[in-house]
Amino acid sequence: MRVLVTGGAGFIGQHVVRGLLARNHEVRVLDSLRSDVHGEDPHWRPSNEVEFQRGDVRSADSIDEALNGVDAVIHLAAKVGLGVAVSDMPDYASSNDVGAAELLAGMARNNVLRLTLASSMVVYGEGEAICSEHGSVRPAPRLEAALAEGDFEPPCPHCGKPLTNQLVGEDTPFDPRNAYATSKVAQEFYASNWARVTGGSVAAMRYHNVYGPGMPKDTPYAGVAAIFLSALRRGQAPTVFEDGGQRRDFIHVRDVAQATILACEQHQSGVRAWNVGSGTPRTVGQMAEALARALNGPKPVVTGRYRLGDVRHITADSSRLSELGWKPSISFEDGMAELSGMS
Ligand code: UD1
Repeated sequence: MRVLVTGGAGFIGQHVVRGLLARNHEVRVLDSLRSDVHGEDPHWRPSNEVEFQRGDVRSADSIDEALNGVDAVIHLAAKVGLGVAVSDMPDYASSNDVGAAELLAGMARNNVLRLTLASSMVVYGEGEAICSEHGSVRPAPRLEAALAEGDFEPPCPHCGKPLTNQLVGEDTPFDPRNAYATSKVAQEFYASNWARVTGGSVAAMRYHNVYGPGMPKDTPYAGVAAIFLSALRRGQAPTVFEDGGQRRDFIHVRDVAQATILACEQHQSGVRAWNVGSGTPRTVGQMAEALARALNGPKPVVTGRYRLGDVRHITADSSRLSELGWKPSISFEDGMAELSGMS
């Protein structure tokens, strides 16, 4: 196939492009090389095998040019991260909501009907948990007063009892808790609307916490693994928020790229979502310790600090991905060891 990868110069994008080439697809990259990711004077150059167009997905002209002769699109171009302030909201809405809408309008104009979309686990908010009295419940957003007291676990919204966490499947209702999550929900809805009208297909890849070579670092939008790695490289201890017991599923970027490519190749009709995680949740504290060990650095410091938009636990059931013939190939230990060798 000839595949357009938007955001192909980004962290996940570069691995997707490499994976597509390895599977003999033709690749075109559309990327604006936005300055908050690539700096003011970006030097990114693709390999000779890739057609590169610098442009913004919000420009209809760029989209029309990029879609010429294309069989499928993998849409990764987005503003990522949690959002540092409410003042970030317009940029999330513009980059992600408007970006997806322009892309979809362009795909309809150019009769390109296969879309693989980078979505996120954050669409589920706090997910679902089990209360011994009320069964499966949806934890409410945590209150600042509780966090300030060091009360990090969200209680049962009905009786206040402690909850047992459970893995969320793809049918879990959306509950976005920040601007980024809201924009990913919007993208999924726009894509579903588009698919209904055009007969196009949508594969929504709900990525968990992606780490690995090339991850963004030293920006306010960097993920926790990159932040810890940068600290350790400076000889400083990783600073763990809350009590370090918050659970995530850290998934290696090459596994994420592989899942994305398989969905792009195989998904032919309708709309389907896949959680993309390793299936083995860890706490942020465990991840900090593993990375500190791998780099032979100072022990993590648990700070009790918190971020209001954070969810406590978000862990997916990614077993649906096996229907694409996918399973994770890089263990957490190997992934951490690889990070420790990165420059
Ligand atoms: C991450 C991604 C988000 C993606 C989601 C999918 C980033 C920035 N965010 O969100 O795009 O949609 O996974 O599941 O990549 N923490 C610390 N110390 C720090 C920084 C963070 O302890 O210095 C903690 C946070 O409080 C949080 C956890 O680490 O509990 C993860 O934070 P982060 O890496 O920002 O990712 P998510 O919010 O999970």
